[in-house]
Amino acid sequence: MDLSVIVPTFNEGPNVAELVRRTTHALQDRAVEVIFVDDSTDDTPDIIRAVAAASEIPVRLIHRDDPKGGLGGAVVEGIRAAASDRCVVMDGDLQHPPEVVAELLARAEVGDVDVVVASRYIAGGTSDGLANAVRTTVSRASTLLTKAMFPRKLSNCSDPMTGFFLVDRRSLDIETLHPRGFKILLEILARKQMRVAEVPFSFAARFAGESKASFSQGMRFLTQLTMLRFGRMSAFAVVGGIGALANLAIMWALQMVGVQYLVAAVIASLVTIVANFLALEYLVFADMRAESGLMRHRFIKSFTFNGIEAIVRIPVIWVLVSQAHIQSVLAAALTLIAAFIVRFVFHALVVYAPKKSRAAKIARIVEPLEDELAA
Ligand code: GDD
Ligand code: MN
Repeated sequence: MDLSVIVPTFNEGPNVAELVRRTTHALQDRAVEVIFVDDSTDDTPDIIRAVAAASEIPVRLIHRDDPKGGLGGAVVEGIRAAASDRCVVMDGDLQHPPEVVAELLARAEVGDVDVVVASRYIAGGTSDGLANAVRTTVSRASTLLTKAMFPRKLSNCSDPMTGFFLVDRRSLDIETLHPRGFKILLEILARKQMRVAEVPFSFAARFAGESKASFSQGMRFLTQLTMLRFGRMSAFAVVGGIGALANLAIMWALQMVGVQYLVAAVIASLVTIVANFLALEYLVFADMRAESGLMRHRFIKSFTFNGIEAIVRIPVIWVLVSQAHIQSVLAAALTLIAAFIVRFVFHALVVYAPKKSRAAKIARIVEPLEDELAA
């Protein structure tokens, strides 16, 4: 096998036959397989099976009932299952022309790189197929931001946000990848210094169906970026900081409409505690939710922690000021910093602790700490 083509799909039925047809045609003289890693909720798996039965080249289907990690998780699963070490990742909507796969393979066969990126942003490439001006601007801006955050690792990559690339599986530490959301190439390039080459391509319009990109994918991307660069603890801090500002804003707004200040403070705190918890659930610890039991149990633990923290901090300030003779504002600041660290450790190790096996539990305890050390 020269190459495995991995295609993540979510409700892409009408594109499957055309994608296999063009891939087969473009790689006629090569031994290739196509692996669909499918999280669809419609009849796409049946269509893939039917196309596979009629195909000249091997077409495999991995259907996931538990779509962990979304698009990125699907890609990692495909890479694990591939028959060839050379894996191309390509969208299932024909925005990535299968004809370019031959060029990616030829470039990889020179043998001097680990990753060949199909880029929209070098000479010869275009991004005309992006749905509209907003998508184009978002794509450009997030590319710039990402390159600024990883100037060295992305120095040879003009398009870290592309979902179209070839990777040699032997150069990856698959276990260290944390696929969360859409940007799996970024995850691969940011974890470890890779040797990268690029091939230009024209990002086409969708063949059929509609895009699955969304605002919530955008939020996940920003969280992913923060975590990759600064570790999970920073994402936790950013969420906490926004929460604190929101708390003050809500309190101010309520007082403006005549609510008494203590009542306003209680309402503002309750709203931010719940909002903060949801941000932890869906952004900071999204990849750990599935294994850590019931959401309402996590909420109770998190809520209890906040209460105990508030109660414990006051006497600690008193001890610091009266016994250790530390200035009061400094003492309060020290307790806030300590509380922040304890809160992070508590959430990472207790609230989001996995419920499954002991081995998985140990891995989950070590991983977040490793992330922090790396950062
Ligand atoms: N298995 C699986 N699971 N596949 C998914 C999921 C999921 O949760 N979500 C989306 N996909 C598949 C889609 O079916 C499609 O084949 C591919 O991932 C890309 O999704 P689109 O909905 O077509 O996204 P896009 O066109 O907005 O984004 C693409 O372009 C970006 C560059 O602008 C993606 O390729 C991105 O990775 C790329 O960065
Ligand atoms: Mn697309």
